[in-house]
Amino acid sequence: MLAETSAKLTDNLQQATQILAQSSQICILTGAGISAESGIPTFRDKQTGLWEQYRAEDLASAEAFERDPELVWSWYQWRRQLVHDKAPNSAHLALARWQQAGSHKITLVTQNVDDLHEQAKHHERTSRHEPSNDSKPLGNLNNIDSTVHHLHGHLWRNRCSQCHKPYTEQSAQPKSDIDFDTKLIHCSECDGLIRPDIVWFGESLPVDSWQIAEQAAANCEVFISIGTSSLVYPAAGLAQLAKQNGAKIIEINPNPTANSFVDITLAAKAGEVMPLLVDRIL
Ligand code: APR
Repeated sequence: MLAETSAKLTDNLQQATQILAQSSQICILTGAGISAESGIPTFRDKQTGLWEQYRAEDLASAEAFERDPELVWSWYQWRRQLVHDKAPNSAHLALARWQQAGSHKITLVTQNVDDLHEQAKHHERTSRHEPSNDSKPLGNLNNIDSTVHHLHGHLWRNRCSQCHKPYTEQSAQPKSDIDFDTKLIHCSECDGLIRPDIVWFGESLPVDSWQIAEQAAANCEVFISIGTSSLVYPAAGLAQLAKQNGAKIIEINPNPTANSFVDITLAAKAGEVMPLLVDRIL
């Protein structure tokens, strides 16, 4: 693989490896691009099929759900169907291998609502025959690892749109048994409509995850942004916070982004560059 890597990328990989060798505190922010090679379209990719006429931004909001709950619920059920059999790619796996190695203190923050980081960590533990902290089998909808900090919620969880009570009847099912029915569900407590437990445009981020992310960004020596367009705030502001506090910023993205504070750009797909980077670090 390295032979195919361009001279510029090899050079930048070398620089990134050197910086990481001299650092211990790392904050990593991932976005939709890290899951693209697993077959999950990114947000700013054009939607396909039935959903071609909509923009993701126009469906992922409380206003859209209020206006047309069937439409928004159907879209999420369609996305769940699209994602349910997807597996982590070599970027998720390399990252899990790095975390498992314990060479650095890594805080992993994601904007993604899929559970591919969790699946990769599970895969890494089981391939080493190490006991797992969580006894839940892979593919369980509650397979959420507390060391992956989700800023934008979880695709596999639901809650009431009115009283916010978690809706567990469906969320507790293994993915293979999930009902992708587009019929709306009501809360057993208050009869409000059940919605995905996702942070929509205009909504606040979960306080705990955000505090951890801010603290990690402010205190890290290296901030690595992987597969995000850096367009959506407040997550996009984490790199700036890290930079202001003296961190080096590494970006992994085949395309240019809105992030203007980058020290080293690894301009390639995450699934190609992450295994190369982690091989060099470990
Ligand atoms: N490897 C790395 N990056 C990639 C790859 C890849 N294989 N494929 C695409 N990308 C990059 C694109 O170049 C783009 O910059 O991933 C980025 C995806 O950008 P977005 O679709 O904007 O996704 P993201 O930044 O995660 O969006 C942020 O916006 O819609 C909301 O809440 C949603 O969490 C989401 C947030």
